[in-house]
Amino acid sequence: MARVRTIAIDGPAGAGKSTIGALVAERLGYLFLDTGAMYRAVALAALRRAVDPDDAETLARLARQVLISIGPPTVRDGRAYTVLLDGADVTWAIRAADVDRVVSQIARVPAVRSAMVEQQRALASRGRIVMVGRDIGTVVLPDAERKIFLTASAAERARRREEELAARGEHRPRPELLAEILRRDELDSHRVVAPLRAADDAMIVETDGMSVREALGRVLSLVQRPVAT
Ligand code: DC
Repeated sequence: MARVRTIAIDGPAGAGKSTIGALVAERLGYLFLDTGAMYRAVALAALRRAVDPDDAETLARLARQVLISIGPPTVRDGRAYTVLLDGADVTWAIRAADVDRVVSQIARVPAVRSAMVEQQRALASRGRIVMVGRDIGTVVLPDAERKIFLTASAAERARRREEELAARGEHRPRPELLAEILRRDELDSHRVVAPLRAADDAMIVETDGMSVREALGRVLSLVQRPVAT
């Protein structure tokens, strides 16, 4: 493992990337960065300022202005990390349904992406990082030593989302959640810049029917496997 500086985990919404990524990072003593949280923070900032999600120019300016920082949990309320937007704790606010609805639109703006990618690369340059997202292995860190593409069927992902929300006391019908997941998959996979896809050298892990423990074991075994030369 001494040579593994960067681990990229990509995949669609709800595949378990954040859960698994955070656990892998904890196990290895690496930094964990969920890049989806960065796009969500920009989306929240846009909503709060009533910026039109189609106004690419204003969004680009906003993405460069706001200060997003992601670090270890500062409150013990089940969060895997704390997200600050201009110094204020927005860890849960970025998970709200209104952010879910607009975030894909915001994440497809090229200048928003380049602002985020710049920050992501700066963080990765220090090494020992697990970075999770949609384009980490393909665009952000094409030289990452380990690339995992974590996926699951849309039906399984909708089921997990329903459970996750129920655990927080929110009840939403599964068909509605499934429709949202399919809509986001469509937007994330078909956008012009950095669409969601597995890097050619990514190892694909399909997690349908796997528990978190099983998926973690599988990913750790791939990550810790000696590099083929
Ligand atoms: O993983 P998530 O659901 O929190 O991601 C939120 C949105 O951000 C999702 O629509 C995809 C987008 N995203 C992206 O385009 N690139 C990334 N590296 C991470 C997330």
